[in-house]
Amino acid sequence: MPDEAEEDVVSRRRFLNRVSLALSGLAGAVVSVPIVAYLLSPLLQPPPEDWRDLGLVENFRMGETVEVAFDEPSSLPWAGQTARTAVWLRRTGERDFVAFGLNCTHLGCPVNWRAGAELFLCPCHGGVYYSDGTVAGGPPPRPLVRYSVRIIENDRVQVLTRPLTQTIAGAA
Ligand code: FES
Repeated sequence: MPDEAEEDVVSRRRFLNRVSLALSGLAGAVVSVPIVAYLLSPLLQPPPEDWRDLGLVENFRMGETVEVAFDEPSSLPWAGQTARTAVWLRRTGERDFVAFGLNCTHLGCPVNWRAGAELFLCPCHGGVYYSDGTVAGGPPPRPLVRYSVRIIENDRVQVLTRPLTQTIAGAA
């Protein structure tokens, strides 16, 4: 049967073990909370809208629809090639442009422009859009998303980007 001194040693050891575990847990939380918050921050705050330069007005021919690439404003430092995105840009007048999202409003596949047919075609499930972005056929529930376009001084065309999730959700 253990004497009193031995019981004291055991309970002191148990107490120190618990304190040690509590301090380890606290240290782990202090270190990991900022790391987890940093990693989740892009998911918690929606990326900002931003105007992106697409080039000079004179670079685009009247009535033509072309794909114009630019850097995603919300891209992360390690995003690499995925930081590039694009819009379909159509010049409809001397100083008028329309920009469409690349992604089909059905399930988000990138649509292709067929200049000869004047149609956007989605390769995934056969969605078809007219040149003004409205649905011509297939499963897409809504027209292609439109982005705001402006022409600033020096005749540069700019597009107001928005996060991909909003782009796919469209006007829903
Ligand atoms: S994703 Fe385009 S038709 Fe389904």
